[in-house]
Order: sequence, then structure tokens, then C-alpha cells
Amino acid sequence: MHHFSTRLLNWYNKNKRTLPWRGHRSPYAVWVSEIMLQQTRVEAVIPYFRKWMKLFPTVRALAKASERDVLTAWEGLGYYSRARNFHKAAKIVVEKYGGKLPRDVDELQKLPGIGRYTAGALASIIFGMDEPALDGNLKRVYARLFDVKKPVNSTEGEKLLWKIAHENLPKGKAADFNQALMDLGAMICVPKNPRCEVCPLARDCKAKARGVQHLRPVRMAKKTIPHHIYAAAVIVAQVGNLRYKVLLAQRPSKGLLAGMWEFPNARVEGDPAGEAVSALRAAYRLTVRMKRGLPPLAVVEHTYSHFRVTVHAFRCEISSTTMGDSLRWIRLKDLDKYPMGKVDRAIARKIKSDSHF
Ligand code: ADE
Repeated sequence: MHHFSTRLLNWYNKNKRTLPWRGHRSPYAVWVSEIMLQQTRVEAVIPYFRKWMKLFPTVRALAKASERDVLTAWEGLGYYSRARNFHKAAKIVVEKYGGKLPRDVDELQKLPGIGRYTAGALASIIFGMDEPALDGNLKRVYARLFDVKKPVNSTEGEKLLWKIAHENLPKGKAADFNQALMDLGAMICVPKNPRCEVCPLARDCKAKARGVQHLRPVRMAKKTIPHHIYAAAVIVAQVGNLRYKVLLAQRPSKGLLAGMWEFPNARVEGDPAGEAVSALRAAYRLTVRMKRGLPPLAVVEHTYSHFRVTVHAFRCEISSTTMGDSLRWIRLKDLDKYPMGKVDRAIARKIKSDSHF
């Protein structure tokens, strides 16, 4: 009997997805795609990939770009540290490696934003090296194919899956093989209701043979994540030359949404309207006035990887003459030029759609 990789590669030849980075001659294009595809679905990535390649067509163009332009191009994809790390890595590749990615998984993993999965994907797809690449989708495929009972998100489970992936890699064919597994995971061996009836590996699949494909992969229960409530201030005023301006704050250069812009905001315990004024004063040395009983302009929910937030945004007027130096007045019509996370962009859109200004 042939190894399952033969059947998988035959299937891939006939069924592979046409994706804009496939068959791209530039290694940089593959790098862009792999960074964007971390934690993000192919359909969401495609338009961002196309736009990115126009804005920053080469690693040198990316290295030269400003952080603000890089973050703006990434806006909406989430997990913004990917963009910042990619930007840093592009600079390192230009300065240290003459603009070319190193052909070595250990060297690749020293670059910001490149972990074990991405190093394996780049090494195999760009250089044809015999390296496996296991992301969440491939772990699911392998957990079913080999009926892995250890949780895929445990250290032991991970170790076992990488071992299986190393042992089953067909020599000289890793580029197609890894991408074939990705396509199988996306089109057939999907998380819910896997389409075993059309799967080229149905006869190789140990979970299917035992009728437990729906029970794989096994996962350790996730901890429930905390929920925080924030009050945000939308302060629009005619400042200086009497143009309408809005007060924004720039986030610190490290941590969540680093360097991005937001409406001044602060965490509250329970009552956003009642606590907003004092919470903002403590956070920014900023004194605002708010109408009593004013409904929020917007209430926005968002889930980050480790916590969930509900942000209540209120129209406020400014009372203080001094304020923290992370704050800046910007022209209302320039709101789009300042990179923001999803929550603040939703608030910004609400302001724009408001006929008041
Ligand atoms: N997901 C991550 N990398 C991918 C690739 N190269 N092709 C398809 N899906 C992917």
C-alpha cells in the first residue's frame, strides 16, 4: 500500500486552491501570506495581501516604510503585533541578510514574528526544504489521521504531533505536501462535520476507522476569559484655527495595539456613565464634562485573545487646559489616517455617520 502522501499529492494536483501568493516568484510574497495567515482565514487575508503587495512590493520597501503606514495597511486584520514584528523582521533581513530570508529554520525562528510553524512553512514553500509546518488546521488533520488522543493544545500532544509530522513528510515534496494538508484541512477535514465521504485519505484515517473523527482533535478546556468594561470619551471641538478636531490618545509602544490610536478611555467597575469623568481624569489628567443621563454614542464589544471588552463611548466636552502628552487633537477629516483597532474604528465610523459634524 502506498503512503498516504501519494494519495494526498494526487488530490492536491487536481483540487488545490488558486491563491494569489501561490506560484508567486517572490519569497517575500510567501512571507507576507504566511504572516497574514497566522490566526486569520484565507478569505479575509486575500484582499489585504493584494493591497499590501501594492503598498510594499519588496522586503526593502517594507523595511523603509513608516510604522504608521504599516499599521494602517494592517488595520482590520487584528493581532497587530504581527505587523509590527514583520516590519522589524524586514529591517533585520535587509540589514543582516542582504534582503534575503535565511535558509535555516533556526535562523528563521530568530526573526520577530516567526515561530516554529511559520519557519517550517517558509522553509518548505520557499526553499523546498524537508520541513513540516503544523498550525491549528494541520494539527486537526493529523489528530484525526493518527487518532491522537492527547490534547492538541498540551505540551505532550504538540510534541507527538510534530513527531508524526516529521516522520510522515515525503522527502523533496514538502512544499506541495504541507500546502496539500492545509487545503485538505480547509476544504474537507473541516472542524465540524468533516467531509469524509469525499476525503482522499478516508482509508488512511484511524479516527474514521474507529468512528471518532468528530471527537478529534481533543482539546483541553480553555479558561474562561475576563470581561472588562471601559468608558471612552469622544471630544470634538473647534480648536486653534476653528476647525473641528477630535482628541485622540496614542497607545504605548509596547503591548496590546502598541502605537495605535484610540479615543481617550479608562476602565470602570460597573457604571460607565457615572464613573467616566473620574476614570478619565486619573488616566490622562484630562477633565471632561458629560451631560447627565446622556446615552452612549456607541457601545462596542470586542474579544481579544485573553479578555473581552465592552466599550461605552460618550460625547464629552473638555474642561481642562492641560492634559497628558499621549493626547493629540487631530482634524476630524484625518481620522482615517490614524491606525486604530476594531473598537475605536467602530466609534470613529459612528462619529462620521453622525450628521452633527
Ligand atoms: N494557511 C497558512 N498558510 C497557507 C498556505 N500557504 N496555503 C493555504 N492556507 C494556508
